[in-house]
Amino acid sequence: MNEAIRPGPESPLQAATAPQLSVVVPTFNERDNVTTLYRRLETALTGIAWEVVFVDDNSPDGTWEVVRGLARQDSRVRCIRRIGRRGLSGACIEGILASSAPCAAVIDADLQHDETQLPKMLALLQTDKIDLVVGSRYIEGGSADSFNKQRAGASQLATEVAKRALRVEIADPMSGFFMIRRDRFEQLAPQLSTQGFKILLDLVATARGELRVQEIPYSFSSRLHGESKLDSMVALDFLGLVLAKLTHDVVSLRFLLFAMVGSIGVFVHFATLYIVLKGFDQPFAVAQGCGALLAMTSNFVLNNFLTYRDQRLKGFAILRGLLLFYLVCGVGLAANVGVAFSVYAQEPIWWLAGASGALMGVVWNYAMSGLFVWRKR
Ligand code: GDD
Ligand code: MN
Repeated sequence: MNEAIRPGPESPLQAATAPQLSVVVPTFNERDNVTTLYRRLETALTGIAWEVVFVDDNSPDGTWEVVRGLARQDSRVRCIRRIGRRGLSGACIEGILASSAPCAAVIDADLQHDETQLPKMLALLQTDKIDLVVGSRYIEGGSADSFNKQRAGASQLATEVAKRALRVEIADPMSGFFMIRRDRFEQLAPQLSTQGFKILLDLVATARGELRVQEIPYSFSSRLHGESKLDSMVALDFLGLVLAKLTHDVVSLRFLLFAMVGSIGVFVHFATLYIVLKGFDQPFAVAQGCGALLAMTSNFVLNNFLTYRDQRLKGFAILRGLLLFYLVCGVGLAANVGVAFSVYAQEPIWWLAGASGALMGVVWNYAMSGLFVWRKR
């Protein structure tokens, strides 16, 4: 059933307290931009009952303090300050779910998106014929001139991959500027990934053609203050999302990365074993011990850098994490050997026993690392 999203015949008081539109703004180090955005929203949304939710990942520059200041003067402004978490998609999801208007928009804080399009987007949703309006750079009238060559190429490539692999049919699935009906969003929310940047692509891919989408053109302008948080690692996030959607969430990028790091660890182990044994003329037990220790340490560093980059341990927590990781891997090794032995006892096929043990080890290490070492705070 469609909920009515047009403003009903409420009393003026009701209309003033019940927003038609929730604007969600993810922020990370946008201290100098949020006030300008707020003012521009105020101008652009005159005559519309709106609210804005800033979702800030505890920005070091204190963006959330500035937002709190705005919120103290205008009750339409709210601030969610998230501690110990990072991620654009997760922030947007949380912001939309923390608001209640029948329509929700996501817009960047850095004024690169065009807030003057919001009333048009809202009007489209209120026709009840559209579920999702996308601000698009790649249709007639839109542009992304502020992109440098490299960024433009990457964006285009990702768009092509998304269209082919996930059969997404919109022109700009990488856009970070859109507005969606709340009822549709709430249906899809449980299946969305909180990792990464690509919330719109995730929404459209997850809906598998069920959303009635309309794109409207806008020009992606340059950033006013501060810098982009997109780095080369977002390519990984993107691949992860494509993979997860292609396999109906069976394969997670995190697990694949963890396993990949594990195989690098095997290499490190053997190299160390060889060097200590041959180069330093040490007994096998010593060489094997060095190999294991070095492999676990390099696995930890790589996982902290890649696999869990959104929850990266820093400072003293690194040491604690490393010791826990040793512990987890130690038990994982015991499980590995135990399983291999029992498989071998049943069926003396060496590679089957070995593979079963290794699988047991990696699954154990992955599960326990997620629970104890890089646990969500
Ligand atoms: N809460 C939170 N957490 N916000 C974040 C994070 C994060 O980890 N990373 C970025 N943001 C916020 C920024 O503060 C900004 O308001 C918005 O998300 C977009 O981030 P930018 O760093 O400015 O990204 P961009 O301009 O390079 O990319 C934008 O345009 C792309 C279009 O090509 C984003 O909208 C992308 O989603 C979009 O694909
Ligand atoms: Mn930006």
